[in-house]
Amino acid sequence: MSVDLRISPDQIIERYLSMELVRVTERAAVAAARLRGHGNEKAADQAAVDAMRRELNRLPIDGEIVIGEGERDEAPMLFIGEKVGNKQGPKVHIAVDPLEGTTLCAKDMPGSIAVMAMAGAGSLLYAPDVYMDKIACGPGYAKGVIDLDASPADNINALAKAKGVKPNEISTLIMDRPRHAKLIEEVRKTGCSIRLITDGDVAGVIFCTQPEKTGIDLYLGIGGAPEGVLAAAALRCVGGQMQGRLILDTEEKRVRAHGMGVLDPNKKYDMSEMASGDVIVCATGVTDGGMLSGVRFGKDFIETETLVYRSITGTVRRIYGEHREFSKFQLD
Ligand code: FBP
Repeated sequence: MSVDLRISPDQIIERYLSMELVRVTERAAVAAARLRGHGNEKAADQAAVDAMRRELNRLPIDGEIVIGEGERDEAPMLFIGEKVGNKQGPKVHIAVDPLEGTTLCAKDMPGSIAVMAMAGAGSLLYAPDVYMDKIACGPGYAKGVIDLDASPADNINALAKAKGVKPNEISTLIMDRPRHAKLIEEVRKTGCSIRLITDGDVAGVIFCTQPEKTGIDLYLGIGGAPEGVLAAAALRCVGGQMQGRLILDTEEKRVRAHGMGVLDPNKKYDMSEMASGDVIVCATGVTDGGMLSGVRFGKDFIETETLVYRSITGTVRRIYGEHREFSKFQLD
């Protein structure tokens, strides 16, 4: 079989950028990890934002932040619409969460990561900072096996049938929130297990991509919409399935979303409507987690672990870094 190695028209992001993005999330993760367990969410987040922004501005891209720390008036850095990069490369759109799981980092609990996605202009959903109802499963199932509008029991039964197991052998992951009391009760009735997480649902969704490793088949529930887009971008790279619907339960939110291009407030977004085209996603562990090890500060070097996903090839790289040039990790 011959493989066509020419660059296709939709392959607008240069391959080498995958490695450049690793540096971006590595630096953000190291900056945040220095403040791990200090009980100061804001300081850890700010350190990650500063480091990520500095690295993004070194990249040979003509980039624009479409999912960031908030809107221009509420976020001084990495705000939605901020231009990043040295303008010497492709026009790209970027979604960032420099420190996903700020509380996890501040309390040195498992699961905080530095994460970003890059895609061609117009390829990432402009998600306002509201909640999103989400459902996700991993690769290998026929399209439509899960549906956001079906009941939890129907989704669990359908997934169990497709996997060839009993419903009580399916494992779900849900954020531990009072808003999920009814959902949890309904899932419990099916007899399947629930892993409750306190924070960090980007990683929670990504867990579905490797059920044999993480033990999670299905993500259910409501989390942040920006986190939903980042997770959809990662899932698209490995062929899982995800749907999301913005929760626009006030006029103010509907108006804000409309201003960002959301014309139908009840729209059910499919994974590829949240992230399309050539997408690269990169995540580095800050604290230890089920998916990634956190940053380790050795005597002579710093260790990082990063996952890089690319949709166009479906490649997933796990990159272990041993960094000796400490100065590069300082606030230069
Ligand atoms: P932060 O990193 O901004 O603290 O977000 C953590 C997080 O747990 C996300 O992973 C999740 O999508 C969202 O918060 C859920 O929001 P809430 O804490 O309001 O339920």
